[in-house]
Amino acid sequence: MRNQERDTGGHPEHEDHGNQKFPPPEAFRARARVRDLEHFQHLYRESLEDPDTFWRRETEDLLVRRHWTKLREWKLPKIEWFVGGELNVSESCLDRFLEGPTADKVALRFEGEPGETRSLTYRELHRQVVALAAALRARGIEKGDRVAIYMGMVPEAVIAMLACARIGAPHTVVFGGFAAEALADRLNDSGAKAVLTQDGAYRRGNILPLKAAVDIAVDEAPSVETVIVFRRLGQELCPLEMRPGRDYEWAELLAQAHPDQGYAEIVEAEHPLFILYTSGSTGKPKGILHTSYGYLAYAHVTTKYIFDIRDDDIYFCTADVGWITGHTYVTYGPLSNGATVVLYEGAPNQPDWGRFWQIVDKHKVTILYTAPTAIRAFMRAGDEFVDGHDLSSLRLLGSVGEPINPEAWLWYHRKIGRERCPIVDTWWQTETGGIMITTLPGVHATKPGTAGVPFFGVKASVLPPSDEAADPDSGGLLTIDEPWPSMLRGIYGDPERVVQQYFSTVQGHYFSGDGAKVDEDGYIRVLGRTDDVLKLSGHRVGTAEIESCLVGHGAVAEAAAVGRPHDIKGQALVVFVSLKPFRRGSPKLEAELADHIATEIGRFARPDEVCIVPSLPKTRSGKIMRRLLKNIAAFEEVRGDLSTLEDRDVVDTIVQIFSARAR
Ligand code: PRX
Repeated sequence: MRNQERDTGGHPEHEDHGNQKFPPPEAFRARARVRDLEHFQHLYRESLEDPDTFWRRETEDLLVRRHWTKLREWKLPKIEWFVGGELNVSESCLDRFLEGPTADKVALRFEGEPGETRSLTYRELHRQVVALAAALRARGIEKGDRVAIYMGMVPEAVIAMLACARIGAPHTVVFGGFAAEALADRLNDSGAKAVLTQDGAYRRGNILPLKAAVDIAVDEAPSVETVIVFRRLGQELCPLEMRPGRDYEWAELLAQAHPDQGYAEIVEAEHPLFILYTSGSTGKPKGILHTSYGYLAYAHVTTKYIFDIRDDDIYFCTADVGWITGHTYVTYGPLSNGATVVLYEGAPNQPDWGRFWQIVDKHKVTILYTAPTAIRAFMRAGDEFVDGHDLSSLRLLGSVGEPINPEAWLWYHRKIGRERCPIVDTWWQTETGGIMITTLPGVHATKPGTAGVPFFGVKASVLPPSDEAADPDSGGLLTIDEPWPSMLRGIYGDPERVVQQYFSTVQGHYFSGDGAKVDEDGYIRVLGRTDDVLKLSGHRVGTAEIESCLVGHGAVAEAAAVGRPHDIKGQALVVFVSLKPFRRGSPKLEAELADHIATEIGRFARPDEVCIVPSLPKTRSGKIMRRLLKNIAAFEEVRGDLSTLEDRDVVDTIVQIFSARAR
């Protein structure tokens, strides 16, 4: 296989990249936890045929206070795992290590954007989590209360998550890139009682004023009683106004807290651990609910096998804690395995595009888990940012968040992995809680652009689309056919909706919303969303959310948001709007509408293009025909069935306007 790769290596554009196979490098395989297909298949079969034995053995090392008596109960919308079990998730991530050698091992190694380093051992992390848990209790926050975390990538964000888990208060981490309005929506939907934040975060050399956004959001969120502020930057760099009676200094509260009050609340297996908001097909983000035992068990076992975590690994996942990857594979998965986690605060191009590689060398990173959009940006920036770096510490690479195109995969393999490191292309979702489809790095040959096979306990299928008119390029429907421990337990505040959203497209099966294909080896290649969810630089954004934001602007009558393929970001956002009577389109208004999205949702959702048109193409029943707009936005010919289109002229006008802009 290596020869095959060398033969074609010089002409990436002519290669049939996706058909190459890369077996696990021998040096990796020899030391891997699972190193042959037979062993994998034995475990996989056991996980489906005798799941009690599988899950009991594989989660033996977690610290639980009461063992489960029944593995699962499953009658939608009720989903329960590890029935009868009791635990506190933070104890498995911290307390279980206090008596052994891991106590003095580094748990978090922080690299600030300006370049400073800070390390916390498991013992120190435990101490700080206990202190914050005690401080939260002292502020009247109890088991079941929701706590929002709106922070950047600092160790305190992880401490905050674990402290919430410790007192049994479900956390809802809101990505620091969300604007105040979006934060307010999430505070209100979750009914958060407290917000943990920081003065500001470094971002690409600038300062992101997080506390200032909290002030605006909390004015609209009456449930919030307490705001706790970590000083990352200090008063001089980021002057703050603290509101007496509501705002508290993190350091002061921790200093005053009595450690006895930081005890772990023992909760039942299905006690909510966190709510994480994500975009779907409606205008409002949905709060995906994950619970304690099943989520932790799955995070633990996937991290152990897929990243093949060993005691001496230095593990670097570049995801922000505001996304699911930051929950499962920055916090709960690696910490429950006693790993050393590198936490990088800033942007990948600060001070230049070599920053990740400098971090890899500085901290001797062995496992790197990042996103295709970052890999493509590194490729674009040029090899000179990689070439001077050693990178010999790396032994395993991972990719997550969107399909990785074979060119980017091969670049990652050659330039970063130096052809020595297996790549795991991990498919999963906020809703699945953990990785569902992947290869195991010591077992399976990998194929560029193809995620792999279902993980232990996962039964997946690709079913023919029910709609005959479906686009054949988007493949079949990727479904999960059996319950798994970390599956979403519901949508916060709307427990019934989960059935309609996820289990009704294919009756009784979980439908992911993704299209996929299965190849001759049974590997699954995920092609992308079949619904109205976009992936902008790996960030999940619902087109309905963008549209509802646009029609909230005084000038807009109707809006349609679509994705267009983009070399680096995967997809770019293009919006078409029609205006209210007597409003006139202008480049100024287009820019204003783009800004409106940035201030209401967040800068990451700012559209690449806003196109004002006289009216939008609709069916006779009045539905906007987004697929036509998608063709137009991508400069493609408008195709497919046009028989339901109400007015063909509308399409011609939009094509004219759009192509005139491009000229
Ligand atoms: O379309 C799939 C894509 O990301 C979606 C889930 O997004 P989110 O909930 O934000 O979680 C991202 C991090 C797990 C999926 O429906 N996706 C994720 N990983 C892959 C992927 N598409 C292809 N290959 C992947 N490895």
